Amino acid sequence: MNFNLENLVRENIKRLTPYSSARKEFSGAAQIFLDANENSFGSPLEGNYHRYPDPLQTEIKREIAVLNGVQPEEIFVGNGSDEAIDLLFRIFCEPRADNALICPPTYGMYEVSAEINAVAIKRVNLTEDFRLDLPAIENAINRQTKLLFVCSPNNPTGNSFPRVEILKLTEIFGGIVIVDEAYIHFSREDSLAPEINNFKNLVVLQTFSKAWGLAGAHVGLAFANKETIAFFNRVKPPYNVSQPAQEMILQALKNAAIVERTISEIVSEREKLIEKLSDVSCVEKIYPTDANFVLVKMTDAEKIYRFLLDEKIVVRNRSRVEMCAGCLRITVGTPEENKNLLKALKKL
Ligand SMILES: Cc1ncc(COP(=O)(O)O)c(C=O)c1O
Repeated sequence: MNFNLENLVRENIKRLTPYSSARKEFSGAAQIFLDANENSFGSPLEGNYHRYPDPLQTEIKREIAVLNGVQPEEIFVGNGSDEAIDLLFRIFCEPRADNALICPPTYGMYEVSAEINAVAIKRVNLTEDFRLDLPAIENAINRQTKLLFVCSPNNPTGNSFPRVEILKLTEIFGGIVIVDEAYIHFSREDSLAPEINNFKNLVVLQTFSKAWGLAGAHVGLAFANKETIAFFNRVKPPYNVSQPAQEMILQALKNAAIVERTISEIVSEREKLIEKLSDVSCVEKIYPTDANFVLVKMTDAEKIYRFLLDEKIVVRNRSRVEMCAGCLRITVGTPEENKNLLKALKKL
């Protein structure tokens, strides 16, 4: 499929003169900054917080580029990957005209972002065994379909989709294929981020909220070719990642070895949890997972959900989600948390 980025981007976005922030216009080594109406006297806090943060998160991108084998210009850093999702709608989808395709059951924000941006959603459900329905997806795509979201590993089902199938979609689709890899670090599959140069319509999302353990910083990433990332930078708010968040990410990047260890621990706990859950009488089915959570079909999900709440344990009730009837989504906890969860479930 021929892909032409310029044809895909909304006219108003192509015409847009982006906001030019003081910090973007001048990035040299001045000593006196009287250009941004900051508080020259400082803040009540220690640190450089009276200054606006780097709008393009240069240091973070430099490190992430090395870590992922891409160029800094091929990275967008955002206020969570949710910001990247919203920007994709704003860059590519004409309100009340274009549509985006999702494969339910999947992450809820694609649909919410679409609605906020007045963009229609086309739904092509996963098959019974939670695989991508490639022929149905191909059938559903029309000229107004600008975005196709594939979440792999998928939330809430937990499984990954085969790399060849995702890449096949990028071949047959003339719009943007977004692969949401929020849970990739727990997966048996490799990231598709290095493929961004082979597939110009591929956008890969990742986040620091899961494996990196930094949901509180709320920083997400998009990987794509330079031209696409340039549009993200034009549309995003100037200071979309705060100074404390940028500092936290830089600090964490220096401690990647700790993160690797935690990931191994979580994966090992996941396998133990699955094994122990299979001995619990109220558990009917445990779906295969590649993420840090597991989708579990229960004998009576609503009742068990409420019972666990009484036991002060919160899991995610997905039983009213299409194709997830009777299911709870359980995040892998620490060994202690998992033990308490299993103890509570056995009381039933
Ligand atoms: C599949 C998926 N994508 C994206 C996100 C959002 O991530 P962030 O915290 O970076 O906005 C989540 C959060 O739960 C998720 O499950």
